[in-house]
Amino acid sequence: MSIIRRLFSLFVLFLSLNALGESPQKQIKYVPAKPTSPASGQEMYTAYCAACHGREGRGNGPAAEALKVAPTDLTILARRNGNRYPYDHVMSAITGDAHLPVHGSKEMPVWGGLFWGMSQGHPSEVQQRLSNLSKHIESMQRNN
Ligand code: HEC
Repeated sequence: MSIIRRLFSLFVLFLSLNALGESPQKQIKYVPAKPTSPASGQEMYTAYCAACHGREGRGNGPAAEALKVAPTDLTILARRNGNRYPYDHVMSAITGDAHLPVHGSKEMPVWGGLFWGMSQGHPSEVQQRLSNLSKHIESMQRNN
């Protein structure tokens, strides 16, 4: 697939309620990703991740219940990994290199191509996005 097509096939999503009140059935709507600053992990997280993983990373974003697989609680990644935050693993989960069963499927787009497009193919800026996002998730870790 050409890189251009990959870019256009990547989207962020938001949630809509079907006929509010009448039918509580939730649907995920895919919309084009809005550009963000590579300098702010927080801004990228809010724009691209919070819909599923939740504002605080606990896996309870508004889109979570419309997914077949529950989004991971990102605040216990360190605890699950012998109290070492898996910095590189998080970056490869984002790019799609980690080949997670759900990330990279229809339910969870991979972000490598999208970030590449936003940063016009500048590898250092793409790297900055990945590392700032991973650092932001590191700052969300909790021990209990
Ligand atoms: C459409 C919903 C959705 C969005 C948006 C989403 N994720 Fe996920 N994510 C999931 C699901 C579902 C899982 C758990 C399933 C799996 O392991 O593949 C997951 C798992 C993860 C994991 C855990 C990997 C592991 O080894 O356990 C990380 C890290 C992660 N996401 C980071 C992110 C980041 C960073 C973003 C934003 C750039 C993001 N996700 C956006 C649904 C989403």
